[in-house]
Amino acid sequence: MEKPKRIGILTSGGDCPGLNAVLHAVLKYATSLGWQVYGIPNGTDGFIDVAKNLCQPEDLRIDEHSFDIPGQKGMGVLLFLSGSVIGCRGKKKRLPEEDDLILKGYAKMGLDALIAIGGDGSLEIIYELAVRGGWNLVAVPKTIVNDVPGTERVVGFDTAVAVVSSTLYNLTFTAASHDRVMIVEVMGRDAGHLALEAGIAGSADVILIPELVGAIDERVIRETCLKIAQIRETKRKFALIVVAEGVKKRLEEQTKESSSEPIGEYFKRQLQAYSSRHCTPEQTDFCGLIGEVDMRVIVLGHLPRSSPPSSSDRLLAVAFGIKAVDLIARESENLQQMVVWEKGEVHSQPLQEVMARLKQAKQKSPCAAPVHPKGFRVHVAKALGIYLGEEKLA
Ligand code: F6P
Repeated sequence: MEKPKRIGILTSGGDCPGLNAVLHAVLKYATSLGWQVYGIPNGTDGFIDVAKNLCQPEDLRIDEHSFDIPGQKGMGVLLFLSGSVIGCRGKKKRLPEEDDLILKGYAKMGLDALIAIGGDGSLEIIYELAVRGGWNLVAVPKTIVNDVPGTERVVGFDTAVAVVSSTLYNLTFTAASHDRVMIVEVMGRDAGHLALEAGIAGSADVILIPELVGAIDERVIRETCLKIAQIRETKRKFALIVVAEGVKKRLEEQTKESSSEPIGEYFKRQLQAYSSRHCTPEQTDFCGLIGEVDMRVIVLGHLPRSSPPSSSDRLLAVAFGIKAVDLIARESENLQQMVVWEKGEVHSQPLQEVMARLKQAKQKSPCAAPVHPKGFRVHVAKALGIYLGEEKLA
């Protein structure tokens, strides 16, 4: 009989909804196969602790009951819990001198394979380490901003879209009661998927994302003012705007002291200043935006990251977790794969190919899987009359 496997699991990068659901599936399935599972604390930092003897491999052993609620044995609470019970490393700067310690810690753990749940940045680093150390590695893609190439879905994105779009719906009533313009800022430094999909699903009037808007310049401000004025004249007095955090300010503003001002606040200031400047007897279009209408900015920030995973994310997370264990069960050497979602099924792709595509894409843009300007979602938004701020081509 084959020796039971000894596997490690870690969550790297920033947290997102569904990380614990992957862990839940891996623990349940691997335990049923008689394997030993080790929860590496705080991403690859856990290996450093092992290398430095700050903890011993056996201290990290977990099983399907390690996270039970007292009195509720086997309740499966991990499935529903956001965050990561084994801790994330976050986006701390990588120190090259730590790599050797990570490799040493991994070797000391004596693992047959590692399951790493991460986003594009952290998976790239872990893959490099795996190649150097000859580790068997299965990567599970996660992120609320949906910027991992090679997979149609990632753990965490569906929840984030649901949270942002329901926030837009909830804001509708206060916005309508006060005839306000609500500007909702969401995460997405380089990728606008979250703002775009949540904006469409939450009935936004304006959505600005980095892939379509070079910067919030005079044209974008003017066109947004006109869009709001037109809504106020013909439809209703309130409006909803979604801005991704990565949308840039005007070049001359980027170096100013106020450059740390969140993009939503900046946009609000610009809209108010522009409309008051242009409210003249000749340009009455803008007058509706001053005096009688005010604006509020809501920065959602980490809230979508910390919300309980949606049923769709839970399903994806457990499917990815089971697939990761299956891959390890089947192949015992030279295993370096990422589990992916493709055409309604879970598959896997060699990490070598995913990473090559990621590197190639990053040479062209900071985002390896950006919103396609001619993609279906952009078309849908435009067809619904949502203003996206793109330059109109002649
Ligand atoms: O994962 C991407 C992201 O959500 C960005 O959009 C955001 O700027 C960043 O993570 C923030 O992460 P943290 O505050 O945990 O460093």
